[in-house]
Amino acid sequence: MITNEFWLDRWKTGRIGFHQEGVNPKLIEFWPDLPKGSRVLVPLCGKSNDMIWLAEQGYDVTGVELSSLAVIQFLGDNDISYNTHLEGTLKVHTVDGLSLRIVEGDYFQFTETEFDACYDRAAMVAMPNSKRTEYVTHTLARLSSSACGLLISLQYDGDQQGPPFSVAENSVISLWGSRVQKITAENLALTNPQYKEQGHNTFEESVWRIQP
Ligand SMILES: C[S@@+](CC[C@H](N)C(=O)[O-])C[C@H]1O[C@@H](n2cnc3c(N)ncnc32)[C@H](O)[C@@H]1O
Repeated sequence: MITNEFWLDRWKTGRIGFHQEGVNPKLIEFWPDLPKGSRVLVPLCGKSNDMIWLAEQGYDVTGVELSSLAVIQFLGDNDISYNTHLEGTLKVHTVDGLSLRIVEGDYFQFTETEFDACYDRAAMVAMPNSKRTEYVTHTLARLSSSACGLLISLQYDGDQQGPPFSVAENSVISLWGSRVQKITAENLALTNPQYKEQGHNTFEESVWRIQP
C-alpha cells in the first residue's frame, strides 16, 4: 500500500532514485512561454531542482511536498535562506530572493486555487491507481480555467510494481480529459540499458501539454 508513511520512509531511508540532480531537459524544451509572475504549482515536488529553474524564469512557484526531510534537503542543498509560517496543518517555507514557496504537508490538504500553470513530473505516476483520480481532480481544482503547463507520464511493460506506476495513454486522457494533449514520447529502454536490465522492452516517457 502506498501511504504517506511509505513516502516518509523512502525519504528517511534515502530511497529517492526518482530525484534528478539537474534540471529536467523536457521542462526546458517544452515549458510554455508564460507571463512573468504567473503562479506555477508543482505538486509532490520532492526536492526537485526544476522549481529553481521555474522561479529563475520569473514565475511565482509553489511546490507541495509531504516529507520534511525533502524540504530540508531542498533548502540546504541550494543554500537557501527562508522563513516559515503555519497555515492550518501546512508549513509554508518562503524562500528569500526567489519567488518560491515550499508548502510542507499533505497535498490533499492544500486548497489554494487559481494557479496559472502546473508542472507534474513523477507526481501523477507516484499515485497508486486507487488515488490517481482524486489526485488529478484535486490538481485540476487548483488551476484556473486558462491554466497550462506540463505533465510527464510513464508507461512500461513487465511486472514492475510502482511507484512509478505505469499509466496508459488512454488513462491519462480519461483522467485529464481535454486539459491535456500529448506533445512527444520517448522509449527510454532503447537508449538507457538500465531499463532493459530491469526487464522492460518499453519504458515510455510521454510529455503532455496541460492546456485551457
Ligand atoms: C516520485 S517523487 C517525485 C518528486 C518530484 N516531483 C521529482 O520530480 O523529483 C513523489 C513525491 O511525492 C511526495 N508525496 C507523496 N504523497 C504526497 C502527498 N499526499 N502530499 C505531498 N507530497 C506527497 C513524496 O514524498 C515524494 O517526494
